[in-house]
Amino acid sequence: MLIRNERKDVKYVMFTREQIAARTRELGAELSKKYAGKTPLMICVLRGAAFFFTDLCREMNTLMEIDFIACSSYFGNTKSTGTVQLVKDSTVDMSGRDVVIVEDIIDSGLTLDYLVKIFKTRNPASVTTVTLLDKDVDKPNRFHVDYYGFKIPDEFVVGYGLDYADYYRNLPYIGVLKEECYK
Ligand code: PRP
Repeated sequence: MLIRNERKDVKYVMFTREQIAARTRELGAELSKKYAGKTPLMICVLRGAAFFFTDLCREMNTLMEIDFIACSSYFGNTKSTGTVQLVKDSTVDMSGRDVVIVEDIIDSGLTLDYLVKIFKTRNPASVTTVTLLDKDVDKPNRFHVDYYGFKIPDEFVVGYGLDYADYYRNLPYIGVLKEECYK
């Protein structure tokens, strides 16, 4: 695959960095209210959620603990392989904790479904899910996420953590990749 100029590979910008920041601020305020007086355990699902996670946590004013896990199911493809792998697990004891799983995108829902099932076996006080992007079109029975930033159509998006073959994550906005870049 030839990566030319990453910004020229983007068909159009779906969300600017200002739009992302504004929505993240709103989500941070909602979560601050929900966890007022509590100390949630914020879990970042690497690698895609890294950018959103750090911005979201900084928009929250509660005490918190953070940890990082890594999951993979796309393995460089544009569609989920259907098999989720927990590549790196959390080392924090989740019993009695308010666990918040933070994702960049939910598409098939398999990753969050898998993670919530695993974490619920660890006796947490609660498990809440947050995603920046929700690609829920035509998926009526899919996993229901508790908080989302934006609903998006079925387009292949990159930037602000989201990748194609591990490229484009550092774009400061979220854009739709030109089909010629992955077909
Ligand atoms: C992406 C994304 C989510 C998952 C969502 O991860 O970051 O974790 O896919 O898709 P789903 O709802 O269909 O399960 P990916 O496996 O590409 O790894 P990455 O975060 O390292 O890019």
